[in-house]
Amino acid sequence: MPIIFHNESNTFHIYNSHISYIFKILRNGHLGNIYYGKKIKDRIDFDHLLDFYPRMMNIWQYDGDKTFSLEHIRQEYPSYGTGDMRLPAIEILQENGSRISDFKYLNHKITKGKPILNGLPATYVEDDDEATTLEVTLYDDVIDCKLNLIYTIYEEYPVITRSTNLHNGYKNKIDINQIMSMSIDMPDSNYEMCELTGAWARERYIKFRSLEHGASSIYSLRGHSSHNYNPFIALKRKDTTEFNGEIIGFSLVYSGNFLAQVDVDTYDVSRVMLGINPQNFNWKLDLNESFQTPEVVIVYSDNGINRMSQVYHDIYRSRLARGIWRDKIRPILINNWEATYFDFDEDKLLQIAKKAKEVGIELFVLDDGWFGKRNSSKSSLGDWYDNKDKLPSGIIGLSRKIKNIGLKFGLWFEPEMVNMDSEFYRKNPDYILKTPNRHTSQGRNQYVLDFSNPEVIDAVEKQMEKILNDSEISYIKWDMNRSLSEVYSIISDFDGQGTIYHKYILGVYNLYDRLTKKFPNILFESCASGGGRFDPGMLYYAPQGWVSDNTDAIERSKIQFGTSVVYPLSSMGTHVSDIPNHQMMRSTPLNTRANVAYFGTFGYELDILSLSNDEIEQIKEQIKFMKEYRDLIQFGDFYRLLSPFEGNYVSWIVISKDKKIAIVFYMAILNEINSSYKKLKVKGLNPDYLYRIDKSDIFSYGDELMTIGLNITDNFYTDSQENSGDFKSRIYILKAES
Ligand code: GLA
Repeated sequence: MPIIFHNESNTFHIYNSHISYIFKILRNGHLGNIYYGKKIKDRIDFDHLLDFYPRMMNIWQYDGDKTFSLEHIRQEYPSYGTGDMRLPAIEILQENGSRISDFKYLNHKITKGKPILNGLPATYVEDDDEATTLEVTLYDDVIDCKLNLIYTIYEEYPVITRSTNLHNGYKNKIDINQIMSMSIDMPDSNYEMCELTGAWARERYIKFRSLEHGASSIYSLRGHSSHNYNPFIALKRKDTTEFNGEIIGFSLVYSGNFLAQVDVDTYDVSRVMLGINPQNFNWKLDLNESFQTPEVVIVYSDNGINRMSQVYHDIYRSRLARGIWRDKIRPILINNWEATYFDFDEDKLLQIAKKAKEVGIELFVLDDGWFGKRNSSKSSLGDWYDNKDKLPSGIIGLSRKIKNIGLKFGLWFEPEMVNMDSEFYRKNPDYILKTPNRHTSQGRNQYVLDFSNPEVIDAVEKQMEKILNDSEISYIKWDMNRSLSEVYSIISDFDGQGTIYHKYILGVYNLYDRLTKKFPNILFESCASGGGRFDPGMLYYAPQGWVSDNTDAIERSKIQFGTSVVYPLSSMGTHVSDIPNHQMMRSTPLNTRANVAYFGTFGYELDILSLSNDEIEQIKEQIKFMKEYRDLIQFGDFYRLLSPFEGNYVSWIVISKDKKIAIVFYMAILNEINSSYKKLKVKGLNPDYLYRIDKSDIFSYGDELMTIGLNITDNFYTDSQENSGDFKSRIYILKAES
């Protein structure tokens, strides 16, 4: 069992061959953290590692004992009010107005496997031997509440997941004002905090900041995880690089309002906590009710940032994503959005589909504009029936025609939204989130449906189900194009209003759950104006997501580079689009657009009918290439090599698990003239294998390629215009000779 409880010292040691996580039941019944990091030898007690230091200005736990104060003890799940003066993980408002709680050890159990979290996305096991779970129950006897801290360790990975469950046995209701998924006090603050931050069209740029005294945090209050901050932070040592040094990642499996925070006290202890954002959150818990938080997936690496990423990739690809598409090769698609926007008819779509079939594309996706009277963003969200003016044979007819062409058919929905100009809204004006007596703001001309209301979810499901049952649909793009505002549900009373943000996202999960169960063969892709809800919660239901609305190859190289810090290539929707690019107005070569887009779930988002013969031939080659290598791209090991955030070059490599074959991507953003010699040190090869470089007669051993480097001979300066200029990129295939 990789979780041991040492009775003699009341110490828990959670470990596998990579990591150790150690805490103990302190003399006052609280849990004190002792160590988390690289695996250390087990022993009966680790008490000598606890810091008890007599300090002035303490609030004593034991009268007169200056050494034992909650403020100076590294805790597992702190509350406020009995001596700890730092930011707490939990706050419970009680009937008498008190907000103080004091949870002490009651019991624990250690079991094989990993429990599911009802109604919430979470990592899972397929076999109970894959993981072990510890549930420690703490008890506050004044309010008769039990707090369960749930820890699971995976056998194979340096991964611990944590979540928290509160059970009310009290005779009265309590109000949960705050309940974080986890908290841990790290012994020092010699870290940089890493985050993935940005905005629409520039999601998930990698940023680092040094920790200082006080709180550093990222958060969302938008009702979705957001373009601005991904629900992920990491603590890395200052000298940690991509391939060396310590880093600990904390990734919250949640798609709604969140808070991820590191609070450094003036003794340099760093308190890390993640969970549902307490702002605008308040949950009444009745007698015998429980509240379960989302989970945090914690990854430890002492081999740099890249190793942490690879662990997230493996676990999210195989034990968070689910369903038949988890392990299936993803189809190469064409999406009509940037080709037609709202302006299409059946004939145009069929022409696109025929051409797409000719070049080898496998799935045709009809984006926004097929339903109600939708000809712009001003109307019809909520009316999920086909627009017969545009599509005379409806979605049923169109999907069959596409099938006859030999392609699969996919369809866009935005289930959570409604336009004021829609039949659905006219019939159900009370189905939206709106605050009485206040103006209800629109975003992109739309209102947000009240997904905390089961009746609303049923009504949306009914419409979607009809289309899905009647037509030949293999894929759904589930979009979400505005943040929430004036959040208030008219079905809830005074007590319920603080629950709506969370219930909204539970409602989204619920609809996803129902549809993925009823239609297990459909591939779901999540989207929120590009990457506004690209998070682990979504990945549980939809194994791929639209990374960003920005399809420019240069910008995409940054966005995909940043996204790869946590998310696997199999989760990233990546398409080749037209030039000048619709977001950046930048023109990049067709092969660079493809070279970037290969590293994800590949597709096209352009008017294929307007391409030249030469471009069509290039596209055929690209699709041939992708069909040959997508298996490797989807399931291989990914290494970031050169960062677009640090210079003019971008590079990465994907290697098959058996290390026999690798694909290297290399791009010089701006051209250089008469520049220096360049060797690209790659990673992850077998040092003893002899690799052939592309189809050339150059062979190099893995050790040579990793220590001396791949010869990047060109600086893209040649006599031919075709081969020189800015935004040039190359793909190198390294194949081990057998
Ligand atoms: C969002 C998506 C786009 C597209 C449009 C359609 O912006 O991110 O890909 O589907 O909506 O309205």
